[in-house]
Amino acid sequence: MKPGNDTNEIILNTEGIGVTYQESIIALKNVSLNVPAAKLTAILGPSGCGKTTLLKVIAGLIEPTAGTVKVRGKEIAGPGPDRALVFQDFALLPWATVLQNVGFGLRARGVSQKEREETSLHYIKEVGLLGFEDKYPHQLSGGMRQRTGLARALTVNSDILLMDEPFSAVDEQMRRKLQEDLLNLLKIESKTVIFVTHSIEEAVYLADQVVILSGRPGSIADIVYPEIDRQGEIDLIRRQPRYMELVDEIWSSLKRYVE
Ligand SMILES: Nc1ncnc2c1ncn2[C@@H]1O[C@H](COP(=O)(O)OP(=O)(O)OP(=O)(O)O)[C@@H](O)[C@H]1O
Ligand SMILES: [Mg+2]
Repeated sequence: MKPGNDTNEIILNTEGIGVTYQESIIALKNVSLNVPAAKLTAILGPSGCGKTTLLKVIAGLIEPTAGTVKVRGKEIAGPGPDRALVFQDFALLPWATVLQNVGFGLRARGVSQKEREETSLHYIKEVGLLGFEDKYPHQLSGGMRQRTGLARALTVNSDILLMDEPFSAVDEQMRRKLQEDLLNLLKIESKTVIFVTHSIEEAVYLADQVVILSGRPGSIADIVYPEIDRQGEIDLIRRQPRYMELVDEIWSSLKRYVE
């Protein structure tokens, strides 16, 4: 994807987003961002720069102090079925099984039990959890809980997935596996993903567009387009010469904001 390449539909955009919390904490300032459809946009920035705040604004959970969020050119008025949020802390119901947790969003929408189970099982299979549908969250590993959260977000069938550091609570091996699985999944399901991370490597590995936020108040410092070949073998992504160059390039852009 190249900057300004208008063959990519912009499915979501923010215009001049500003957020000021109580006691005049300015979290975000004038964030205008174009998010291309069916691509992965990573948001990277130092701790406390407003990444989660930006994601919540896009999800419609926080009303910005300034600016607007538009989906397909239409201003959002709150949360909607076009955007699904995957939380960092999984947000699973401890008393419900994997199957029930995954079907939770459908249940809230009044979908019948039979259809709920069919749809949930489809996504449980897609995230690699088949056989675990009757387990409870405490019987799962961190990675499995994360997959359950992802399957739940997928059942809602939103075009846009919002993910806030989804893999930060798991160990390095599991994180790599989940990253691979996400890329494989995106080859099957055409989703637009906005992915908050504080890992430069993760951003370069996953993203078509990496948005670098400055320190608080967060504003867009830079946008990098990795243009890594993602069509071929996923294993080869980290071995492309561009990969390390990009990690360096992004680090030199980011380091001035890290105290
Ligand atoms: N509900 C709130 N009320 C007041 N201040 C808040 C609130 N939520 C966040 N903040 C402040 O806004 C700033 C941005 O917070 P945010 O959680 O968006 O940052 P972040 O980039 O996601 O950080 P991290 O990388 O640590 O997750 C921080 O200074 C934080 O203290
Ligand atoms: Mg955060």
